[in-house]
Amino acid sequence: MRGGFAVLLVALACPLLLGLVLNPPSTSAGAPADVGGLKPVAAFGSIKDASQRSVALFKEAGLVIQHPRCVNCHPAGNRPLQGDDMHLHVQLVVRGEDNLGSTAMRCFTCHREKNFEPGRVPGHPLWHLAPIEMAWEGKSLGEICEQIKDPKRNGGKSLAEIVTHMAEDTLVGWGWAPGGGRTPVPGTQREFGELINAWADSGAVCPGA
Ligand code: HEC
Ligand code: HEC
Repeated sequence: MRGGFAVLLVALACPLLLGLVLNPPSTSAGAPADVGGLKPVAAFGSIKDASQRSVALFKEAGLVIQHPRCVNCHPAGNRPLQGDDMHLHVQLVVRGEDNLGSTAMRCFTCHREKNFEPGRVPGHPLWHLAPIEMAWEGKSLGEICEQIKDPKRNGGKSLAEIVTHMAEDTLVGWGWAPGGGRTPVPGTQREFGELINAWADSGAVCPGA
């Protein structure tokens, strides 16, 4: 019985210790910086030319898309990125064949169902890297836009599916609740979804390179 209790204690303490060892509490971790919001779709109504309006809407949505919270998981290389300065993931993890890590170091070893505040470890049940064809790191907003529309590089999604993914996907939604004192992406997912929806409705025109 006592052995079982000890095992239980260790099991309970483990994620906490793991988090602290991997990521000692930082003394400078303050409140998230004030990031401002997103302009509402109505703010673009005065742009009469549909193509110009479409581009302007996408540029506003780009404040989210090109944010480190998103790009850190859409890297161009073999490793995830971390922080607002988008440095290489400190723990040496690689994407592996399925974007879920190597056989020995799975994302899920450390990233659990939800954010783990004591260790500042981000969490989500499907935490893994965006496949390499969906890499955004180092690309212009125009290039990302063309890529997002291309079913060969966006996981075979239609434009409507991309709109829904942006507006409703909960992994995308993590960007607004990243925990650990991280800067969230601007606005709300709902506002972001409305911008993308209006962009699609006005012709899904991409900003020039
Ligand atoms: C050995 C534990 C460990 C493994 C395995 C691991 N991570 Fe992490 N990861 C962490 C910790 C701890 C942090 C928080 C670091 C910080 O913010 O200081 C983190 C942060 C991140 C961030 C940064 C979020 C941001 O915007 O700052 C991303 C992205 C990320 N991990 C992706 C992954 C992916 C994808 C995998 C699998 C391929 C993975 N991690 C595997 C421990 C791990
Ligand atoms: C934890 C890692 C992670 C984070 C954080 C993340 N993504 Fe992704 N993203 C993925 C993965 C994995 C896929 C591919 C699987 C899928 O379609 O669900 C993907 C796919 C996408 C796609 C679809 C196809 C394409 O062309 O890229 C879009 C759009 C997208 N993400 C938007 C975002 C936005 C916007 C954010 C930030 C608010 C974000 N993602 C943050 C991992 C992430």
